[in-house]
Amino acid sequence: MSVPSSSRSRIAVLASGGGSNLQALIDHFAALGAQRAGDVVLVASDREEAPALQRARAAGIEALALNARARTAGLLHELATRGVMHVVLAGYLQLVPLDVVQAFRGRIVNVHPALLPAFGGRGMYGERVHSAVLASGARISGPTVHFVDEAYDHGAIIAQWPVPVSPNDSTASLAARVLAVEHLLYPRVVHAVCCGRIRLSDNGGVTGVPPLESAAAFSMGDYVRLRQSLDQWLGT
Ligand code: GRF
Repeated sequence: MSVPSSSRSRIAVLASGGGSNLQALIDHFAALGAQRAGDVVLVASDREEAPALQRARAAGIEALALNARARTAGLLHELATRGVMHVVLAGYLQLVPLDVVQAFRGRIVNVHPALLPAFGGRGMYGERVHSAVLASGARISGPTVHFVDEAYDHGAIIAQWPVPVSPNDSTASLAARVLAVEHLLYPRVVHAVCCGRIRLSDNGGVTGVPPLESAAAFSMGDYVRLRQSLDQWLGT
């Protein structure tokens, strides 16, 4: 079903780094064409040299380097003047100012490269997250998409997809495997939030959560294969 451009959400993406999730979102919306629920109208970064800004320019999207004021007291104004309706954090390393969190409650999301509520919080980004997962001995990791609240990596969880941790994993190999799943999961959740299919309810819960069985990267077929290989290994 196509969405008239007048009812598409105007989305701002905040990113500090490479912007591969931004790219995945741009590509997903391009593939959805008229069915997409939003348009990325602004990419803003606290780092002038962030590759995410270059990706925005290449896609014809306004790219904005935020100075100290613009990323604190002035951010809400930057978003409001552009009529932004949803905010998507994609590797944004700054704490989002309180007035933005309050104004966009239920309309601001983040992706984290591990299964929250473990392995998150202030200072837990990039390689540190995957090192902590490996050090913990966890056998499963995977991305978490959540609504953003006042604290780092703390808001209501929307979706998680499991990514197995291999005994031979380095932080780089685990990060790459999780990132590939982020690229599948995050654009789909952003689309669903923008069209109102996924919502933050007044009691702080999330409605419209996608079922795990629909996860293409870890489908029921994978579970069946997993069970078969376990049976084989056990000799049963
Ligand atoms: C991703 O791993 C995401 O989970 C985290 O920051 C990273 C951003 O990567 N929040 P990219 O800039 O989208 O490539």
